Amino acid sequence: MNSFEFHNPTRLIFGKGQLKALKTEVPKYGKKVLLVYGGGSIKRVGLYDQVINLLNEIGAEVTELGGVEPNPRLSTVHRGVDLCRTNNIELILAVGGGSVLDCSKAIAVGAKYDGDMWDFVERKATPQDALPLGTVLTMAATGSEMNGGSVITNEVTQEKMGWGSPFAFPAFSILDPENTFSLPKDQTVYGMVDMMSHVLEHYFHQDPNTPVQDGFCETILRTVIETGPKLINDLQNYELRETIMYCGTMALNGVLSMGLRGDWATHNIEHAVSAVYDIPHGGGLAILFPNWMKYNLHVDVARFKKLAINVFHVDPAGKSDEQVAEEGIAALRAFWTSIGAPSRLADYDIDDSNIEVMADKAMRFGPFGNFRKLNKEDVMEIYRLSL
Ligand code: NZQ
Ligand code: ZN
Repeated sequence: MNSFEFHNPTRLIFGKGQLKALKTEVPKYGKKVLLVYGGGSIKRVGLYDQVINLLNEIGAEVTELGGVEPNPRLSTVHRGVDLCRTNNIELILAVGGGSVLDCSKAIAVGAKYDGDMWDFVERKATPQDALPLGTVLTMAATGSEMNGGSVITNEVTQEKMGWGSPFAFPAFSILDPENTFSLPKDQTVYGMVDMMSHVLEHYFHQDPNTPVQDGFCETILRTVIETGPKLINDLQNYELRETIMYCGTMALNGVLSMGLRGDWATHNIEHAVSAVYDIPHGGGLAILFPNWMKYNLHVDVARFKKLAINVFHVDPAGKSDEQVAEEGIAALRAFWTSIGAPSRLADYDIDDSNIEVMADKAMRFGPFGNFRKLNKEDVMEIYRLSL
């Protein structure tokens, strides 16, 4: 293992009926609340009313920022920062999926910074402070509810990039699986692909002696594989939603990365696709990840073989290591296809015309990936494999 420090400051409040915790959590930070939400799903399902009622009970003064886009935009962050300043906001409350949470994180650091928040994304400056952030999660996917990461799209320059800061961790996150009941099947699938991809990004590392970490990864993957097919046919099943919600949080809250450095190249490659074509993050990952795996199989065949056997129950008898490894990759693709995830860029009407543009965006900070460093030609080849 690598030496490491672990600190996760987010108070995780998980389970049925936990929304009422707003009444004890919000007053810790103040009365002036910026309520941030997306395109309206929380209004349709009544969650908005429940949140407003609880905030009214504790006498909170609520300012609203609705309409946060999937793949949240910098202009929306700017609007949020302005609202924080003009209303002396003391707490940001994000109610929604990863996009709403990520936008709120950007607002939280932007409100305490004199320049443009985009400076943090471009690594021109580092956050030194942030407004406190609370979240109510409605979609199991990104892990944003318990990490310090965020992904923002600059719609003017067509760039979509991740950034992170210790100041961007939510102070508290409320996860009631019932708040994910209304998530449609396609988004439920994208969320499961995303959390599995987070696990895989951790799993493909080069650091020695990580048996527990690898085992945690394999358990989460097996659990999503067992639970996912049942869930997409039973979207309001509490236990299935609960299991998937817990998987999503554990996949990217830092626990899996203790002592190792995950790869994260596929995320970078996907963000460049979403930047140009505005496709769902999970859909992009479903297309790209198996191709990243095929492309990098020879870096460490043993690790791919371990995944195939321990997660996909591939029988190694009479097969070469490479064959076993390839069967594992094929099993991942087959699983994602079976739950309805896309498998080719063509599924989003994306052809080869912008491959170089996307590769240049992915290369913004130079060669990347910790399992194997990829250069521009590598990235273009992975796009070609995905057409
Ligand atoms: O906007 P509303 O109306 O709320 O609808 C959303 C949106 O259309 C809908 N939705 C969410 N919860 C719902 C619901 N509809 C009905 N019922 C509910 N309970 O689902 C759609 C997608 O929501 P979004 O928040 O965009 O999805 P997700 O959670 O997958 O977040 C995706 C964003 O997170 C970034 C992605 O790149 C993308 O921008 N990521 C953030 C990460 C992080 N902060 O750690 C890591 C990830 O790898 C990822 O890159
Ligand atoms: Zn992701």
